[in-house]
Amino acid sequence: MIRINENYTKLKASYLFSDIAKRVAAYSQAHPDKSIIRLGIGDVTEPLPPVCIAALHAATDEMANRATFKGYGPEQGYAFLREAIAQHDYAARGAKIEPDEIFVSDGAKCDCGNIQEIFATDIRIAITDPVYPVYVDTNVMAGRTGANRDGRYEGITYLECTAANGYIPALPNMPASGEPVESVDLIYLCFPNNPTGAVATRAQLTAWVEFARKNKAVILFDAAYEAYIRDPQIPHSIYEIDGARDVAIEFRSASKTAGFTGTRCAYTVVPKSVMGYDAAGKAHPLHALWNRRHTTKFNGVAYPIQKAAAAIYTDAGQQQVRALTDFYLGNAKLIREAMAGLGLKCIGGENAPYIWVNTGRDSWQFFDLLLEKAGVVCTPGVGFGQCGEGHVRISAFNSRENVEAALQRIAAALK
Ligand code: MLT
Repeated sequence: MIRINENYTKLKASYLFSDIAKRVAAYSQAHPDKSIIRLGIGDVTEPLPPVCIAALHAATDEMANRATFKGYGPEQGYAFLREAIAQHDYAARGAKIEPDEIFVSDGAKCDCGNIQEIFATDIRIAITDPVYPVYVDTNVMAGRTGANRDGRYEGITYLECTAANGYIPALPNMPASGEPVESVDLIYLCFPNNPTGAVATRAQLTAWVEFARKNKAVILFDAAYEAYIRDPQIPHSIYEIDGARDVAIEFRSASKTAGFTGTRCAYTVVPKSVMGYDAAGKAHPLHALWNRRHTTKFNGVAYPIQKAAAAIYTDAGQQQVRALTDFYLGNAKLIREAMAGLGLKCIGGENAPYIWVNTGRDSWQFFDLLLEKAGVVCTPGVGFGQCGEGHVRISAFNSRENVEAALQRIAAALK
């Protein structure tokens, strides 16, 4: 008899964004004449930067010619891309990352979900609340949690992010209130944050790095939205913090930076100095474990896609990506202003493409209200965790025309 991985039965029935898609599809079917504007899932709408398109065309021509055709590439990514990343995303910001510490992949979601495989199943994990659901669900699937009780899994240390702490979590043994909690081994941090749009200062990240060093813990730092940082004081990478090379793994993506959600290219940095420990306390470089996992289970990103990603790092590419992210930040500003005009408190949207709105009411009810009365899709905050109750996330990823229309419709619906 074939048996299932029963950890899957602990999960909520479906993934948050599938849930929302189903509700929207049902509404659409019932009201085929109503137009719907989607400010829910963070999916980009604007075309790829011209440099990426040119690189894709050129690489496609190379694939059409026996002399330049490419079969399997290196699983970790071509040197031309890894070198460009090391230079532009790290050396240029004073962070020392070698090209061979970079693993090119098809998405930060996959990497954030897969990385937990290289850690023991009985470690203690710390996850912010609210949080991008992938970090939680993949640990549930792996058996690192108990049952879900009232929206929280047993065995996870939740780091609450609320207005009271500026949406930046306190260190696990120093909660803003309440009893100290036990120590943690693996900490998921995401800045600029999905869903709140909050950013962490150098001092806040330094405290986390020191905590991880002291506790032989590892930080998984999701920096998928770093291209939206405009405040020059805010670090773009955890490796801008002294000592982070020994305790942090970082995830980056071209999805939100250069519109690659449908094109798929991302990367994970595992410095050779980050260690994990076996049961006897012996140190092992995590780089070797991730390399083993990556080469066993992944065959590399398509050559034309890596060429398109490398084009982002040319001068023209950097200008085009800046224009693209500026465009979405322009939408974010309109959303923030409109919410404030409606008397709703919100954060985010200044160094991030998400606006976290305190609706003062049940977040699914507010979601339904916007869908039914305004034909606008947002994301209910409670879908990101208990602390998200009362909030919704509005995404700035859409055309200007749609954002403006959505804001007018929301204002009319809330009158
Ligand atoms: C989101 O809406 O949170 C993102 O689109 C999720 C993702 O990037 O996978």
